[in-house]
Amino acid sequence: MVNMLVTPFAREVKRLRSERGLSIRDLAAALGKSVAYLGKIEAQGEIPGPEFTCEIARSLGASPTDLLRLAKESRLSKLERDVSREYAHAFLQADAEQAKSSEMNEEKGAHRMATVVSLINMKGGVGKTTLAMQLAHTASSMNLRTLTIDLDPQSNLSQALMGPKKYVDHIKASKPTVVQIFDGYIPTSPSNGSPHLLDVNKVVVKKTGYWTNSTLDLIPSRLELSRTLKNPQGKERRLAKALAQIQNAYDLVIIDCAPTESILTEAAYFASRYVVVPIKPEFMATIGLPLLARSLQEFCLENDDHEIEIAGLVFVHSSNYSAGPEGQQSIKDVTKVAAENDWHICANQVRYSASYAKSAREQTPLSRTSYARDEVVRGFRRLASEVFELVGVAPVKP
Ligand SMILES: Nc1ncnc2c1ncn2[C@@H]1O[C@H](COP(=O)(O)OP(=O)(O)O)[C@@H](O)[C@H]1O
Ligand SMILES: [Mg+2]
Repeated sequence: MVNMLVTPFAREVKRLRSERGLSIRDLAAALGKSVAYLGKIEAQGEIPGPEFTCEIARSLGASPTDLLRLAKESRLSKLERDVSREYAHAFLQADAEQAKSSEMNEEKGAHRMATVVSLINMKGGVGKTTLAMQLAHTASSMNLRTLTIDLDPQSNLSQALMGPKKYVDHIKASKPTVVQIFDGYIPTSPSNGSPHLLDVNKVVVKKTGYWTNSTLDLIPSRLELSRTLKNPQGKERRLAKALAQIQNAYDLVIIDCAPTESILTEAAYFASRYVVVPIKPEFMATIGLPLLARSLQEFCLENDDHEIEIAGLVFVHSSNYSAGPEGQQSIKDVTKVAAENDWHICANQVRYSASYAKSAREQTPLSRTSYARDEVVRGFRRLASEVFELVGVAPVKP
């Protein structure tokens, strides 16, 4: 094995010294240095500076130039070794860190595309819009980048999130709504000249949430959306296509659907991975369920390349009488239908509270609505966490 400490310079000094028949002690005495120091030079990689190198050369009757050259080369290669060793460790550490962070980015990237969830029940007044709004507020409070889409011509979600005044101004100014997604173009208005192809980003109303540092955007609706129903051919995939263009800007997309089955329901199916079914526990609560089951089954048969499933059923007590015997009977009926269809029923329910209507009026999340009771707020948060877990979205650490 080569002793890295014995440099070409050391070897030459030793060779010259031996050639002259000098011991280390002799040379040390001639140079006025200790034996130990000479030992370091010959055996431990010590390389003296240029002046002392010249002195050694002179003591040994050798060429200072040759010895200086050897000393310089030895010093440079020692330096190179030392530097390489020092950096090798840092390189290793940096590589490991980079590998770890790209692994994490890949993991994040895998979840970058938003999960799209539709709130559907073929019945009106069951709490779809209320649930959509509160889930969206809760998601954005958990730092999930959230987009809501109002797919109901009645536009309740748009008004609840934007506020009536801003919403009316939006409509009066003929600003784009979800209608444009189905039409595929932005119509002529005094300000934009001729009709032009749709840029989906223009349809998104930004920052309709409560918390300034979070994302809660909205694609609003308007009454004219019902026109789409009259001429539906070939429009069922337009929402999914439009969404695909902006989906990576969000973690969660919540679609609030209209109660009747139409092209809009099919459009929601095409755009969604999950369906959540809000149910009001009252007489005949189960009526819309077979309808929904059949509609979804038909859709899946016709579109076996699209994955969609019912994540769960949520009881929303939107009337205070639903906690009574009629409500309890209704919950039993629904539970039976759910078991037959293998649907999950959420363990948490949305209890009755006047704060829900107030929250929509005040455009505040339930947790920020004046006089909202703590147990109501906490109860909803538990339900929201259950729903987010069912659809596989997790809160994001800031
Ligand atoms: N948990 C609740 N407690 C009290 N009122 C509620 C609750 N959920 C919904 N509501 C009220 O019930 C009505 C219907 O709710 P909404 O969300 O508009 O239903 P949908 O969108 O299914 O038609 C609204 O007036 C709403 O304020
Ligand atoms: Mg509604």
